[in-house]
Amino acid sequence: MSIAPKHIEQPSVLYMDGVSVSFDGFKALNSLSMCIEPGEMRAIIGPNGAGKTTMMDVITGKTQPDCGTVLFNDQHDLTRYDEAAVANLGIGRKFQKPSVIESLTVFENLEMSLRGGRSVWQALRHRLTAEQQDKLDHILALIDMTARLDTFAGNLSHGQKQWLEIGMLLGQQPQLLLIDEPAAGMTDEETMKTAELFKTLAQHHSLMVVEHDMDFIAALECRVTVLHEGSVLAEGSLASVKANDKVIDVYLGR
Ligand SMILES: Nc1ncnc2c1ncn2[C@@H]1O[C@H](COP(=O)(O)OP(=O)(O)OP(=O)(O)O)[C@@H](O)[C@H]1O
Ligand SMILES: [Mg+2]
Repeated sequence: MSIAPKHIEQPSVLYMDGVSVSFDGFKALNSLSMCIEPGEMRAIIGPNGAGKTTMMDVITGKTQPDCGTVLFNDQHDLTRYDEAAVANLGIGRKFQKPSVIESLTVFENLEMSLRGGRSVWQALRHRLTAEQQDKLDHILALIDMTARLDTFAGNLSHGQKQWLEIGMLLGQQPQLLLIDEPAAGMTDEETMKTAELFKTLAQHHSLMVVEHDMDFIAALECRVTVLHEGSVLAEGSLASVKANDKVIDVYLGR
C-alpha cells in the first residue's frame, strides 16, 4: 500500500489529512486536517467531545481511522503502526492521570524509564551507564526535582507527579510529545510552572498540548488549533482564535 501524497510542501513532524473516526455511526473525527512543523509547540483547544483525545488515539496507533492520512516526519504512515511501534518511532504520550509507581522514589521511577522494556525488578538491579546517569541528572534538573530524588512518588503533589511522568517520557528521547490536559487538577502556581517547563522542552522537542485552561494556553505563547465536532474550526495565534466569532459561539462564550 503506498502512502497518499502530501498536498503541501513544507516539512512537518506530524501531518494529518482527511482523518475520520466513527463510533457507531457518530463521527468523533470528521475529515480532520492539521500539520505540526518540526520543533513546533501547538496548543489544541475545543469543547468537550470535540475529538481532541481521539486525535491523539489515532496518532498513537490506539484507534484506527476509517480514512485519512497520518504521517510522522513525512515518511511514516502512523495508521500502520501499533502503540508500541509508534512509541519506538519517537512519539511520547502523556495521559491525564499520572502513572508513576508510587512505591518507588523519584530517582527509581526515572531510572526505570531510562531502561524501557525491562521489568521493575530487572531495571532496579541493573546499573545505569555513565551516559544514562548524565541523562537522568539532566531530566531531574529540567523537571526541577533534583532535591526530591529520594522522595517516594506517592508523597509528591499532583503537579510533581505530572512533572515526574513527563521526565519519564523524556527518558525515551521522543521527538514529538503529545500531552492531554496536563494542568487539570494543578494549582495556579503549578500550572504556570508547567507552561515554563513546556517552553523549555519546545527547544528540543515538538509538542502537541491539549488543555482547557486558557491562562495556561496563553502562557505557552504558541499557535493554537481549535477543534469542534471532529474538525479544525480555527487556527492561529491565541488572540486571533479568541476573536473568532465561531470559536466564541461554540467554545469561549460571549
Ligand atoms: N471508544 C469510544 N467509543 C465510543 N465513543 C467514543 C469513544 N471515544 C470517544 N468517543 C466519543 O467521541 C467524541 C470525542 O471524544 P474525545 O474524547 O476525543 O473528546 P475530547 O475533545 O477529548 O473531549 P474532552 O475535552 O472532554 O476530553 C465524544 O462524543 C466521545 O463520547
Ligand atoms: Mg479529551
